[in-house]
Amino acid sequence: MAQRPLALVTGASAGIGATFARQLAVRGCDLILVARRVERLQALAAELQATHGAKCEVLAADLAVDADVARVAERIHEVPRLDYLINNAGFGTKGKYFHADLLGQVNMHRVHVLAIVQLTHAALKKMVEQQAGGIVNVSSVAGFTLSGGGTSYSATKHWLNTFTEGLYLELRSSGSPVKVQALCPGFTYSEFHDVIEVDRSVVPETLWLSADFVVSESLRGLDRGQLFVIPDFRYRWLVRLLALVPSPLIYWGAIRGGRRLRRN
Ligand SMILES: NC(=O)c1ccc[n+]([C@@H]2O[C@H](COP(=O)([O-])OP(=O)(O)OC[C@H]3O[C@@H](n4cnc5c(N)ncnc54)[C@H](OP(=O)(O)O)[C@@H]3O)[C@@H](O)[C@H]2O)c1
Repeated sequence: MAQRPLALVTGASAGIGATFARQLAVRGCDLILVARRVERLQALAAELQATHGAKCEVLAADLAVDADVARVAERIHEVPRLDYLINNAGFGTKGKYFHADLLGQVNMHRVHVLAIVQLTHAALKKMVEQQAGGIVNVSSVAGFTLSGGGTSYSATKHWLNTFTEGLYLELRSSGSPVKVQALCPGFTYSEFHDVIEVDRSVVPETLWLSADFVVSESLRGLDRGQLFVIPDFRYRWLVRLLALVPSPLIYWGAIRGGRRLRRN
């Protein structure tokens, strides 16, 4: 019997990560589910086993903690084969950088940058050798924009876009068939905004995407080897337009946005 593909999803206990796990299970994958909330992961594992016969391993890890990241990387080294790595775990923070709690800012860089550096290195070693596999780095439209209020978030997602682009070029120039993708969603229904207690109604309802749509666009793009996936044409146009706007105008808009944030 053919071996089932294996996928490791970080931040699988909620939102976009849980949706990746569900859609990959539909594709016949077994899964390694990573996050801090073990009970959530266990419930998802039981659901995917019952509905799709997916064998799921629950790996509790806080990706802001070095030892936990090393444990997840070690697990990647141990498995005989890895077909997908979904670097999805992430969170937002509220308030300007110099007012915000420093630990939250440091942890954001640990989860959005350092954990991804290590897990991607472990996965790519395996995937390049096995001559197959796909990595999705869950970035954001914020990776193309500037914000006077979400400095670390925007900076880490800009980094993630550039990191993924670099890997894409290295893989292509090595003739490797391994695929990498930066998935850049706009506002998406998940627990993200509940965690930072942001009122969703400040964003027009029509701009919100479903996690199901975002993930199916990502997996469709991965099948085609697409480097950047920006779900929904309006966000694609926004990113294209922003690339044409001169920096002083972008700064003016970001500063005005930052002032509005202070008033609110
Ligand atoms: N929702 C949006 O509007 C939106 C837009 C663009 C990009 N994104 C990106 O999408 C990704 C997923 O976010 P989401 O919207 O699905 O939010 P979510 O529903 O809040 O899920 C976030 C996931 O990340 C995990 N996580 C957070 N900190 C972690 C840590 N220190 N260690 C391990 N896991 C951690 C959480 O699990 P535990 O709490 O159980 O650890 C949870 O499973 C993030 O990278 C986010 O930046 C979201």
